[in-house]
Amino acid sequence: MQDQHGRRIEYLRISVTDRCNFRCRYCMPLEGLPWLPKQDILRYEEITAIVRELAPLGLRRLRITGGEPTIRPDLAELVAQLRAVPGIEDIALSTNGVRLPELAPALAAAGLDRVNISADSLRPERVVEIARRDLGFDLVRAASAAESAGLAPIKINVVVMRGINDDEVGDFAALTREHPWHVRFIELMPVGELRELTWDHVVPSAEILARLAAQGPLEPFAGPARGNGPAVYHRYAGAPGSVGVITPMTHTYCERCNRVRLTADGRLRTCLFGDHEVLLRDALRRGEPLAPLFAKALAEKPLAHELLQMRVGGLKALSQVGG
Ligand code: 5AD
Ligand code: SF4
Repeated sequence: MQDQHGRRIEYLRISVTDRCNFRCRYCMPLEGLPWLPKQDILRYEEITAIVRELAPLGLRRLRITGGEPTIRPDLAELVAQLRAVPGIEDIALSTNGVRLPELAPALAAAGLDRVNISADSLRPERVVEIARRDLGFDLVRAASAAESAGLAPIKINVVVMRGINDDEVGDFAALTREHPWHVRFIELMPVGELRELTWDHVVPSAEILARLAAQGPLEPFAGPARGNGPAVYHRYAGAPGSVGVITPMTHTYCERCNRVRLTADGRLRTCLFGDHEVLLRDALRRGEPLAPLFAKALAEKPLAHELLQMRVGGLKALSQVGG
């Protein structure tokens, strides 16, 4: 699979629900969003059918996202189905980690390879302030559960917000000296309908890197073995883990884009931002071939996204497009 700009597409992010048990300030309003009707959401068998058609075209790696994927019942069942598709080499999960201590063993047994855990604070009261739900989330417990289940390499995503959690950059970095965990600091994207977080809360990666360097000398690191996303990594000498930055606001990496997204309601989205999407669900349910729709989607995949131009407002929340 190649798009019209010659980029090889081998990575699919699959959103299994638009709902979430958290209400992170940068992602979802407290009252929630207008949720997708149940009949519009792809069943696990339908997701697997799409992956089966894409795999022979060159699809190699999958990531299950949401919303929060672990709140959908029997997620391990989907993992097992995807694991059985020939050609798929790597299956990862992006989660807020709340249910990992309970679910990690079953997910690993079903064939999940690894997890990315989102965590914006190590302080219990602050987790509740940012996620606006008190679910007892504890990053070290969640990541340790994933590690014990063998879901490695473990990546941790921290959305950095000025004046809200940017004072914890050093505490997160310290985790990588003790654990084989890869902490990635993400520049806040002021998207969705939320007006509360703005450009003023964005901490540019250069500033994050300066704070990391103040904690001790950093050496360049090629990154954990699996995945080749947009993060740039560094490592403290002798540390088992690494620190990295993901820079949607200050750099684009669209020219290296290797991915497309499947929304929970069966749309193939070829860019995180903008409205480049093709509905697969109805054709699938009518038993029609999907190949022409894949071709149409790839032909329309934009060369670069619109986030930097638009800066704020009017864009969908990441829970609606699968992160
Ligand atoms: N800005 C930056 N990161 C975001 N995420 C969700 N919404 C935003 C946003 N507005 C992050 C989540 C998760 C990843 C999939 O995207 O915290 O780590
Ligand atoms: Fe849920 Fe993730 Fe959005 Fe937070 S960022 S509300 S955990 S989907």
